Amino acid sequence: MLPRRFLLALPALMLGAPRSARASGPLFTLGVASGEPRPDSLVLWTRLAPLPLEPDGGMGAAPVELGWELAEDEGFRRIHRSGRVTATVQDAHSVHLELDALPPGRSFFFRFHANGEVSPVGRTRTAPAPDHDAPVRFLAGGCQNWEHGLFAAWGHAAREEDIAFVFHYGDSIYERAGRPPGARGVPVVRSHHGGECLTLADYRTRHAQYRTDPDLQALHAAHPVIASYDDHEVENNWAGDHSQQDGSRFPRLVTQEEFAPRREAGLQAWWEHMPVTRAAQARAYRRFRFGRALALHVLDTRRFRDDQPCGDGLQTPCPAAFNPQAQILGAEQEAWLNDGLARSDARWQVLAQQVFLSHRIFPGDRRSMDSWDGYPAARERLLSMLRGRDCAVLTGDVHRAWAGDVTLEPGEAPVAAEFVATSISSEGDGSDMQRGAAEILSRTPWLRFHSNHRGYTRHEARGDALEARFMAVPFVSRPGAPLLEAGRFVTLPGRPGVVRG
Ligand SMILES: [Fe+2]
Repeated sequence: MLPRRFLLALPALMLGAPRSARASGPLFTLGVASGEPRPDSLVLWTRLAPLPLEPDGGMGAAPVELGWELAEDEGFRRIHRSGRVTATVQDAHSVHLELDALPPGRSFFFRFHANGEVSPVGRTRTAPAPDHDAPVRFLAGGCQNWEHGLFAAWGHAAREEDIAFVFHYGDSIYERAGRPPGARGVPVVRSHHGGECLTLADYRTRHAQYRTDPDLQALHAAHPVIASYDDHEVENNWAGDHSQQDGSRFPRLVTQEEFAPRREAGLQAWWEHMPVTRAAQARAYRRFRFGRALALHVLDTRRFRDDQPCGDGLQTPCPAAFNPQAQILGAEQEAWLNDGLARSDARWQVLAQQVFLSHRIFPGDRRSMDSWDGYPAARERLLSMLRGRDCAVLTGDVHRAWAGDVTLEPGEAPVAAEFVATSISSEGDGSDMQRGAAEILSRTPWLRFHSNHRGYTRHEARGDALEARFMAVPFVSRPGAPLLEAGRFVTLPGRPGVVRG
């Protein structure tokens, strides 16, 4: 009897792929992932990197052929499909295998082989057929700062059962330079490798470092992920063609011409490390359907927006904020969303996006100009599309959990429910109540819930409700955090807004 390890390696040996990496050592250090679940298609992902913290992953320049298998059972006895795919240096030896003609609503296991090695096994599933009538369970989360804490929340998410997909809204890396333990700011639990990300090599190395995290690998091996990006995949608060550093508060101005290659480098590295299609590289807004229950409209609120008016921090809106042509989605995406909402016959329309949609009013009547509040005309156009539909909005970005009613103006009738996932680790160990949050809640009664613990949201879309449970971990600075439920809300058909569940 051959040892199990050798048995697993047999198919790879039979492929006879040449050893071509410049470094020896395990190839599948970054795990596997799947994504883009549709009734008939999926994307399977891996990236070969024997030296994850080297810009080329230790792979050199030669292409490498991989074998892959999609099986109906974890033991890979019932192979549904198999084949070969080539990883090239142009994509940092990442693989984005786009499979089609798959059956709907089916679970699969998958793995890759290369150079005599076998990858970890991933589990995935296709979306149910559009006429399938059953509840759909899904998770949402993002903002995973390596330095601020462990990704234990993702470890818990990996163990959730019966999950159709995980929406990752972005901030899958943070671009800032490594800080030593003891540095000022949020305590450094573990340091970023290298300086601030500016080049493709920098961003690749940063993504690879994050992908070595065992909880993040477990998440991606357990569920298909629908990924978008926010600002930190490139730079804090970038906006369309504009660097954050285009205003007077920065010592050096960065022009649009200087910023363009940095943005392209950041988004290329994001694509290389996410289980997304080639098409999502150029257009990250896209739509998914999960049975009768759910249409998921994934938005890109970064790439096509105007520069933040009046600066991008908390500001009292200046006249520029009231430009009636203001764009956060851009005209093309806005028309695409309007069309998709009008055509959809799903029970729930869910916007999967990044930045706060409900009003937040800070002391001095200041607003966050990086969120929808900074673009009131675009916000009003969006709300006119949502009005009269059963709709929920999934949001991230602010590192706090919130549930609230989206209204056109404070005090008006709700148009939709908004559920803001907190962060996986950004801003470190939480607290029972953020300083100032009670005061915000008292001035903004349309926001119904707030929590300053790290975690993610768990949702169920069904005929009688769309549910949001705020799952929380009490600490991220050390291992062993349990999973708690910090709050539970629903939104009901024909009754826009949130209700305590
Ligand atoms: Fe973040």
